[in-house]
Amino acid sequence: MIEHPLNGVGGKPATGKLLNGTISTPVFQGTVTELYEAYLRYRFIFECRGDPGNFPSCPEGDHAPHQPATDHLKRGAGQYAAIIGASAKMQKIIKFIDQVADTNATVLLEGESGTGKELVARALHENSSRRCKPFVSLNCGALTETLLESELFGHIRGSFTGAVQNKKGWFETADGGSIFFDEISEMSAGLQVKLLRILQTGEYSPVGSNEIRKCNVRIIAATNRHLESMIKDGKFRPDLYYRLNILYLHLPPLRERREDIPLLIRHYLDHYGRQLGKENLRLNAGAEGVLLQYDYPGNIRELENIILRSIVMAEDAEVELRHLPESVVPSECETAAAPQNFSLVKKAVIERFERNYLETTLERAHGIVAQAAKIAGIDAKNFYQKMQKYQIKATHR
Ligand SMILES: Nc1ncnc2c1ncn2[C@@H]1O[C@H](COP(=O)(O)OP(=O)(O)O)[C@@H](O)[C@H]1O
Ligand SMILES: [Mg+2]
Repeated sequence: MIEHPLNGVGGKPATGKLLNGTISTPVFQGTVTELYEAYLRYRFIFECRGDPGNFPSCPEGDHAPHQPATDHLKRGAGQYAAIIGASAKMQKIIKFIDQVADTNATVLLEGESGTGKELVARALHENSSRRCKPFVSLNCGALTETLLESELFGHIRGSFTGAVQNKKGWFETADGGSIFFDEISEMSAGLQVKLLRILQTGEYSPVGSNEIRKCNVRIIAATNRHLESMIKDGKFRPDLYYRLNILYLHLPPLRERREDIPLLIRHYLDHYGRQLGKENLRLNAGAEGVLLQYDYPGNIRELENIILRSIVMAEDAEVELRHLPESVVPSECETAAAPQNFSLVKKAVIERFERNYLETTLERAHGIVAQAAKIAGIDAKNFYQKMQKYQIKATHR
């Protein structure tokens, strides 16, 4: 139900009646665009719970969570976009978000760049009762120790050269909300101690002051480095690690959940197609084959960029091989990229896919052909014949 601002449509009185009564229909007040954004934001929760009746809402007059604008605070298109993923791994992640969003427990997100750590951090905030308070995203690698310290805790006038007036820190501004520490591995040893203090006591002092302040902020941290190895090398404090690691979530690289690639491609084709006025774009078989078997070292961010670029490059209704970035297209496809060589392209793509697939599956099965065939769901004889075709040897491990 939408309360739309058009006169004479009758939406307002109807909504008023619904709001005054006891209703089971979700009521949303806002424009169609806002409704669509809200739908995207919460869709995965609905789908996960199968319960569209609980539309999360903010109290009157305190709507969108805000984030003060500064250069090092990252924002991006689609920051509230739905989390897409039908693979078992993504479904587990969505369930995890659903279960832990509305707790105050610290969350540590680990995963390669572009796997969705920030998206998950925002989803955790957006689905908690803190959603009407700020979500602050800080990149620990982007600021020097002194600057980050004063950004976080604020400072008092004269505490260092250039501190000409008192300044509020993010812990004060984000009170009641969440702070996302991206690239936590890059935080200096001195700041690690201060963050640990906050996690243990909820207390901090502004730079240049002994005054003790209390804060109420949920902390979410992310890293693309392996913190346990950094602890072994003496580069990260173990006590901070254990405090951050109350809830842990590993975001798998896209190449480990390939089932999600077609969904993401469709999503970005629609999303950017609409934005760029090129709706109903399709990938031709060659381009699709390449994108389905590519490894995406830059994960979803890379896939998003590839699709965006392809939409810009496509002249007609189809994205073809030649519209994809060169780095993505295997060399055997490039030579066969002319549209009339469709069957050649298809053959090359399929062969490459089969070879990769056999190798990965065998690796997972520790070189045991029978087990690999079982994982693949094809009979062992057939699997073996394909191995011979590609001259792949089964090395037991
Ligand atoms: N599961 C997902 N569904 C849809 N978009 C995603 C998903 N995971 C990541 N993205 C998108 O990919 C881009 C990179 O995600 P981000 O959260 O910044 O990754 P990270 O913080 O791990 O580097 C963003 O545009 C984000 O919206
Ligand atoms: Mg990131």
